[in-house]
Amino acid sequence: MQEKLIVGGGRPLRGTVQISGAKNSAVALIPAAILAESPVILDNLPHLSDVAIYSELLQELNAGVSRNEDQMNIDPTHLKLKEMPNGKVKLLRASYYMMGALLGRFGKAVIGLPGGCNFEPRPIDQHIKGFEALGATVSSENGAIRIEAKQLRGAKIYLDVVSVGATINIMLAAARAKGTTIIENAAKEPEIIDVATLLNAMGAKIKGAGTETIRIEGVESMHGTRHSIIPDRIQAGTYMVAAAATRGDVVIDNVIPKHMEAVTAKLQEMGVHVYEMDESIRVIGQPEYESIDVKALVYPGLATDLQSPMTSLLTQANGVSILTDYVYNNRFQHVPELQRMGAKIRVEGRSAIIEYSKLHAARVKAADLRAGAALFIAGLCVQDGYTEISGVEYIDRGYHRLVENLAALGAEVWRENALPKEKTAQG
Ligand code: EPU
Repeated sequence: MQEKLIVGGGRPLRGTVQISGAKNSAVALIPAAILAESPVILDNLPHLSDVAIYSELLQELNAGVSRNEDQMNIDPTHLKLKEMPNGKVKLLRASYYMMGALLGRFGKAVIGLPGGCNFEPRPIDQHIKGFEALGATVSSENGAIRIEAKQLRGAKIYLDVVSVGATINIMLAAARAKGTTIIENAAKEPEIIDVATLLNAMGAKIKGAGTETIRIEGVESMHGTRHSIIPDRIQAGTYMVAAAATRGDVVIDNVIPKHMEAVTAKLQEMGVHVYEMDESIRVIGQPEYESIDVKALVYPGLATDLQSPMTSLLTQANGVSILTDYVYNNRFQHVPELQRMGAKIRVEGRSAIIEYSKLHAARVKAADLRAGAALFIAGLCVQDGYTEISGVEYIDRGYHRLVENLAALGAEVWRENALPKEKTAQG
């Protein structure tokens, strides 16, 4: 039987939560390590299923991988090229980074098309355009992509779409190409800077990460190093939103407040009290909130990954809020589930129109990771009752020690296979 997350309502979150390293950095830094020819140590690694799967993928390539608490040691000294058309690559979306990393290391990669959170068709045409510009031939065969190059050569690549994945994948492949690569219209997310920082510490020559033009001078070989992963701004944002939604008082610790500016500004606009400190943020909820308009954009705009948690929060604001996602057309899998909990939301094109709603507990299903975040936040802010969330395997992809963290903040939350009779969810 699949596990469920049970979330009790009616308790404001109070206390301090420590934020782990970023998932979307970790899943790029782990494959980046195979570009080195000696061991790479990653610190501040989150405990997430995607990270565990990635370490198994590296072991399949004969890398030595050992993990001790929040540290991972990756030894790619005896790495062997292997085709991976099926198997674990299908379990996570970020397995596409194996394409860039193997291409950079061996000039060849065969990788099954990625799985993960498929909330809408998520093309990888810009990744492929980049590999081809670097001189690789790309073909597809039975659900896998075959990429080969006799010699990768630096090139100028203009991305038609600002893509985190394509920017990182091209950096990985270009790091060991011959000559200089310039990525124009590159994504600027902090995770891209984190990957460039690791690659440079491994001997790469990358300039401009975090701006729209990244310049990569290829190097012949790369070596091991030690790197600490940046804090997870999406987990941090989720706890900020949860603190506001439950009218709690939470210090979110181990964050880079600059990365949180968009969500901080939106919460303040609603009337939430938010205080920034050096490496932490305190969020104090208020009895009443104003409705607001929210636009999910590429960084430094509000992250699309936070639009689903924000949807739940906006059901607690007076009046009508409009939330528009400019990154994905249709990332609203959480809406029908929130409606089952009494949320008054309608979707029009790429916008959700959200009215103040009194939420009640229900049985709901997380169809992707951030939809799951929307649901546990909604569960926390119902007046009373237990919300039963299935699809926990999605939530495990992105929320480090979620149950422990929420429980430490005073929430009544646990995982189980079925509800005890006296605590049956409604709906
Ligand atoms: N796109 C294309 N062609 C491409 C690549 C992207 O059309 O070749 C489009 C996408 O369809 C989307 C937009 O460009 O509309 C942005 O996609 P992007 O490539 O930036 O997304 P991604 O790299 O696949 C990462 C995160 C996502 C996050 C997005 C946007 C990782 C592993 N995933 O995905 O995180 O939503 O950037 O910020 O870094 C999550 O953590 O829940 C998650 C889904």
